[in-house]
Amino acid sequence: MTTTIAVSGAGFRPYDVVVGDGLLAELGARVAPLARGRTVVVSDETVAAIHGQAALDSLRAAGLTAELVAVPAGEGSKSFAELERVIDRLLAAGLDRTDLIVALGGGVVGDLAGLAAALFMRGIDFVQVPTTLLAQVDSSVGGKTAIDTPRGKNLVGAFHQPRLVLADIAVLKTLPARQLRSGWAEVLKHGLICDAAFFDWLAGDGAAGATGDAEALHRAVVRSVEIKSAIVGEDEKEAGRRALLNLGHTFGHAIEAELGFDEEVMTHGEAVALGCALAFRYSASRGLCDAAEAARAEAGLAAAGLPTRLDHIGPFSAERLLARMAGDKKAEGGRLTLILAHGVGEAFVEKGADADAVLAFLKSEGAV
Ligand code: NAD
Ligand code: GLY
Repeated sequence: MTTTIAVSGAGFRPYDVVVGDGLLAELGARVAPLARGRTVVVSDETVAAIHGQAALDSLRAAGLTAELVAVPAGEGSKSFAELERVIDRLLAAGLDRTDLIVALGGGVVGDLAGLAAALFMRGIDFVQVPTTLLAQVDSSVGGKTAIDTPRGKNLVGAFHQPRLVLADIAVLKTLPARQLRSGWAEVLKHGLICDAAFFDWLAGDGAAGATGDAEALHRAVVRSVEIKSAIVGEDEKEAGRRALLNLGHTFGHAIEAELGFDEEVMTHGEAVALGCALAFRYSASRGLCDAAEAARAEAGLAAAGLPTRLDHIGPFSAERLLARMAGDKKAEGGRLTLILAHGVGEAFVEKGADADAVLAFLKSEGAV
């Protein structure tokens, strides 16, 4: 089964996100109408070793030239050094403005290759072939591209929408279980933001998706992309509503930063899950939502084996977490912006959040 979701908005050329089983084999046929002849596949070493040849074979079978450039796997590749190396390989391959880049990998590859595409010859087309669940439901859609600097994550980037996104459910079979579960956190996030029925399905009958059931994954990816693309279509540059997609991220990012962004200790998705649980309990502590709704959110996250309690992770300093939250790039002029909720499926943006209330809440959650 294949499902196509059209992404459109006032400020960008519309494109399709295609979700299906076995799409990698169709890459060449689907890309050929968009490319003049030359393509470069950007991947990471892990994904390239598993899926790189299939991508190249498919592109070449469609009459396109295709070369592969693989960066080391991991967040460290979202760097100026790797960006320069990728752009140099594009130049060496003789690409011009009419050619096309294929990003084959998780969010790291998508963000890096997307930024290279935004910069190369002042911008060329690129196609996203996301190979992690997180990338299929989140990073491949919406046009945010970025690299990190030693001063923080995603601080150098551009909005550059892909021409096409191919989300092949079959490639998720090779994804480690923990990575799949981490992507599931972003799926649950979409339900928590604006679709309570979807959230309840994910927490119940759909939960098999978190451990690899292909049918449940298909439905979860499709609904997530529908939700994300509708929000991006309304607010591409995050002037307002797109901030909702950051549910769980301000708390989660602070926790990740305190843990030194060590993926062995806590993945990004796990941090987002914990951040969502905290955002709901904080909302309940302020009387903005019922405690029962916070418990409903927590139960759905915990059912997938995702963390929901700060004091289960380790000792944190409340002051340090708050400072990290205020330093988050979503903070405006040092004022905290939080994504809170009136209930499951009813998230909203709170600007200028009360730092003292957040501090007291973090202490009530076990931070010292
Ligand atoms: P990732 O790209 O590092 O992939 C995780 C790991 O899985 C890597 O080791 C990778 O080699 C491996 N992998 C990927 N696909 C595989 C497959 N099919 N089989 C086996 N192994 C596979 O991490 P991620 O979680 O996909 O993405 C995280 C990044 O995404 C972060 O840099 C984050 O900032 C970014 N992000 C961007 C956006 C956006 O809107 N642009 C949104 C969310 C996250
Ligand atoms: N992942 C948040 C966004 O794309 O806006």
